[in-house]
Amino acid sequence: MKILNLYFSATGNTEKIANQIAKAAKDAGHIVETVKITKDAEVDILAYDFVFIGSGVYTWLPGKPMMEFLNHTRERYGNLGEIKPSSPRRAGKKAVVYCSFGGGHTGINEALPAAKFMGQLFDHLGYEIMSEWFFVGEFHGRLQHLSTTGRLGNIEGRPNEADLQDIYQRTLGILGV
Ligand SMILES: Cc1cc2nc3c(=O)[nH]c(=O)nc-3n(C[C@H](O)[C@H](O)[C@H](O)COP(=O)(O)O)c2cc1C
Repeated sequence: MKILNLYFSATGNTEKIANQIAKAAKDAGHIVETVKITKDAEVDILAYDFVFIGSGVYTWLPGKPMMEFLNHTRERYGNLGEIKPSSPRRAGKKAVVYCSFGGGHTGINEALPAAKFMGQLFDHLGYEIMSEWFFVGEFHGRLQHLSTTGRLGNIEGRPNEADLQDIYQRTLGILGV
């Protein structure tokens, strides 16, 4: 299967996850293209059967470059007539949406809008959203204190080795290995 592995990562957490997804998918024998999103990135999404898309959570939504990418990609596919009324399903097209988040104030509720937002482009295009995954990612920089004082307790060092193992297994599972 041809797999597209899209991600945005501002402080490196989602990048670790995306690399682990790529490793598992390749180990399972698939062809994987990994793309770190920039705001102007143009990606031929419809050329892929299976898409992983992930971002860190920033004020409850994906990072800004990912937001801009999703918005202009929706506009481009809309203009091409690929987003149809009622969004009919495209046979065999599947997506997994995931976030990495710190949940410093309200826990996973902060990540839910981000996953829903990212998933909508694929739902509009007729992809089946197979799953939404949420991974804990420590805060870096000026908000670092939230890694020990937030709603999720001590999340320093996340995603850690155990998280990455979990991601590897989940990826194999969703790909039917
Ligand atoms: C400036 C900033 C804002 C953040 N805002 C949120 C937020 O609103 N909700 C949340 O759950 N996590 C928030 N986080 C935590 C990040 O989502 C988390 O660390 C994530 O794993 C970062 O992923 P990345 O390194 O791939 O960008 C924030 C982190 C930073 C640095």
